[in-house]
Amino acid sequence: MDAIILAAGYGCRTNLHFPKQLMRLGGKPLIIHALDLFMNIQEIDNIIITVIPETINEIKEIINAYYDISKIKIVEGGSTRQESVRLALEHVKSKRVIIHESARPFINRRFVINLLSIEGDSIIPCVPVIPTIYNKKGYYEDRDKLVDIQLPQIFNTELLKQAHMEAIGKNYSDDSSLICDELCVYPILVKGLEENFKITSSIDIEIARCVYETINGSGGGF
Ligand code: CTP
Ligand code: MG
Repeated sequence: MDAIILAAGYGCRTNLHFPKQLMRLGGKPLIIHALDLFMNIQEIDNIIITVIPETINEIKEIINAYYDISKIKIVEGGSTRQESVRLALEHVKSKRVIIHESARPFINRRFVINLLSIEGDSIIPCVPVIPTIYNKKGYYEDRDKLVDIQLPQIFNTELLKQAHMEAIGKNYSDDSSLICDELCVYPILVKGLEENFKITSSIDIEIARCVYETINGSGGGF
């Protein structure tokens, strides 16, 4: 199966002075954490990474220090996450595709291998919603009826490509909602991992460092 790693965002909400995929955790950039995962899974045939066009050479150099770059396809991302996925999908040849975000470093190999074994056109890990939620009209939402979805996610490639064509010009924040809204392909929800949060804001960076240390011992340099 082919894998897409999304790494073409600017990470504005982290307030770092560089994109978060280059942020180091345990001494390694997040983009390498994502590669460590997928390069070590036998079922993954090709890896496609979306990157910010101006950073292509820098990313190639970073990856080259860890892996044989010829095994990895580096493609220019778009101006939105949705566009980046659409551009990456052009390079996908397998029947199903697994999509991951470089901003989620706390996924593990066993979890992914199990995910790959689940059949279906839209396989989506999720965790319970913890906060009490109100919508903007002031009505309380029953959190027991809600879930918080995660990545990596697995899709039927042809259906996802078709859904992306229908969705051009819209702005979905994830592919499970895109394929559901555009083609009525409903997600198969599977139990995600509590620690698999997305690094989004500056506080998430501090939390990520603590989680990393808890999982890996003394953590090494950042
Ligand atoms: N992403 C992408 N192409 C974009 C925007 C985002 O490939 N045009 C990727 C990011 O690199 C990230 C994932 O999609 O791995 C999730 O996006 P998000 O958390 O929003 O990251 P950023 O867009 O980088 O952050 P921000 O929105 O704060 O700028
Ligand atoms: Mg973003």
